[in-house]
Amino acid sequence: MPATPDVPCPHHTLSFLKIATLLAALVCSSGAAQQPAASQSGVNTAKAASQLINGYAPAWWKEAVVYQIYPRSFADSNGDGIGDLNGITQHLDYLKKLGVNVIWLSPHYDSPNADNGYDIRDYRKVMKEFGTMADFDRMLAAIKARHMKLIVDLVVNHSSDEHRWFVESRKSKDNPYRDYYFWRDGKPNASDPEHPLPPNNWHSFFSGSAWQWDDITKQFYLHLFAVKQPDLNWENPKVREDVYSLMKFWLDKGVDGFRMDVIPLISKPVGLPDLDPRNAVEVLANGPHRDEYLQEMNREVLSKYDTMTVGEAIGISLKETPKIVGSGRHELNMIFNFDAVRVNRGEFYSERKWTLPELKAIYDRHATALGKEDWDTVFLSNHDNPRLVSNFGDTTTDEFRVRSAKLIETMLLTLRGTPYIYEGDELGMTNYPFHKLDDFNDIEVKNAWKERVESGRMPEAEFIAESARFGRDNSRTPMQWSSAANGGFTTASGKPWLPVNPNYTSINAKAEVQSADSVYRYVQRAIALHHSSLAFTYGDYKDLDPEHPQVYAYTRTLSTPGKTAERFLVLLNWSEKPVDYTIPGDIKPVKLVLSNVPGAAAAQGQSVNLSGWEARVYSY
Ligand code: NOJ
Ligand code: CA
Repeated sequence: MPATPDVPCPHHTLSFLKIATLLAALVCSSGAAQQPAASQSGVNTAKAASQLINGYAPAWWKEAVVYQIYPRSFADSNGDGIGDLNGITQHLDYLKKLGVNVIWLSPHYDSPNADNGYDIRDYRKVMKEFGTMADFDRMLAAIKARHMKLIVDLVVNHSSDEHRWFVESRKSKDNPYRDYYFWRDGKPNASDPEHPLPPNNWHSFFSGSAWQWDDITKQFYLHLFAVKQPDLNWENPKVREDVYSLMKFWLDKGVDGFRMDVIPLISKPVGLPDLDPRNAVEVLANGPHRDEYLQEMNREVLSKYDTMTVGEAIGISLKETPKIVGSGRHELNMIFNFDAVRVNRGEFYSERKWTLPELKAIYDRHATALGKEDWDTVFLSNHDNPRLVSNFGDTTTDEFRVRSAKLIETMLLTLRGTPYIYEGDELGMTNYPFHKLDDFNDIEVKNAWKERVESGRMPEAEFIAESARFGRDNSRTPMQWSSAANGGFTTASGKPWLPVNPNYTSINAKAEVQSADSVYRYVQRAIALHHSSLAFTYGDYKDLDPEHPQVYAYTRTLSTPGKTAERFLVLLNWSEKPVDYTIPGDIKPVKLVLSNVPGAAAAQGQSVNLSGWEARVYSY
């Protein structure tokens, strides 16, 4: 019997999805995985050891498949052109049928929207465009009723400049909230004494200096992101107490955890010294009190609830990662590492040529650096990155778009770590055809335009081309629900806050739910496969052919004493070119359990002919 009633047994998911036939050969693992996660605050070690699966302590968040919702772009229920919470509630069955079991909701809090909700004005209030607290409660209840869980975004490296704390803080140097933020005198400016220079050379992630002059008290304040996102001063214990209190507010409502925005940046280097721009991010992410604050947060808040936590960890190397995610560290469950998603990026939005062996090497380094006490995430998209298939797949033809989107999802759902799917990727949604600055909404693009184009450093056309390729608005265009006007995102008369990709007439949820060969239906099968065997969660990972330039071939295997071993072989042809491939070693595929090419032939011994962008998963 599952000890955690609201985590469905994978078998239930399978029968619900009516794909039991496909997966009948797969053995559903023991109920051990359904036990609640061992408390992080000390357990009977002998008992815990006997519950280990392949050396891993089982936990619901390790077995989850997460779906990220960017609320502004998901579904508009009232025709004002902006997605909202009721829109999410209306589409929960769609997500349930897809098979995901945790939803990560990007910020839903009251905000002036300088950075679409990542600038929070009131942490205890719902953004009015998104609805009311009653709408939130209804949405949460509806999520729970479907045996899914919800994690919300925790954005506490900075607040909005319209947050009450900052409104107070900027009033006077002796205001009780002054120390909630970083205020510093400027450096003398010989050429213009009336206008001091910023206190140090820190650069904002959104262009320009990270310091903003404030005329009221004639000091600068720190904002590592937008001018309207002042950094909170975690050295002030009152700030930390207030953050813990707001976390409890949401956990007490029943949310299941947090995705923590740029969380390693909460501890600033002592004395706020000038930094070498080449490693400034790493220095900012490895401040002296980071682990102490996260451990305090764990002690004061997280350890008292059954939560899932995932930190957005810019600047954290793989070597540093176990300090944050190691179970004995009592900090966070997992972090997002950006090595894979940024493999094709140079400086800012410039493109970098990458090779498949490079990508494999990244995943191999993850597998080596993160052991059984640690946990990992797998993702290649989110609201800060281009569309998955445009970024890493092949959109030269519709056939390849569909196939490559399926191939990438196969990889995400069979690699090591908790997989994250970004809204619309399950449809193979693509980048938007941006042509000019006005087409963009994102502050990152607008500010970069000033810094790069207006200053004459970069030609306009080059800037637009790069922003169209890598800009964040690509992933923020509205969900394409149907072929109705505006892709069914908002009512026909409403104007969406960001235009819908014109390809909604052919790429949309309604069509894909109905079509057996669609990306959606495939992702549904791939998620069901992921849930059907704990090998995909706790199994060993082995790259069979790290140097092959075109085929990514790996195994996931789980041997549990007294049970039949669960063994899978994943073959991914990362190219439009067909390939005759010989499976290395003595692996003999037995049964094809997932394939993105209809009618794919069984393997002939160890030889497989893979067509362009073909993905196969075999049991063996
Ligand atoms: C990271 C978030 O993912 C991004 O969207 C946001 O702009 C910055 N942090 C600032 O909060
Ligand atoms: Ca709305």
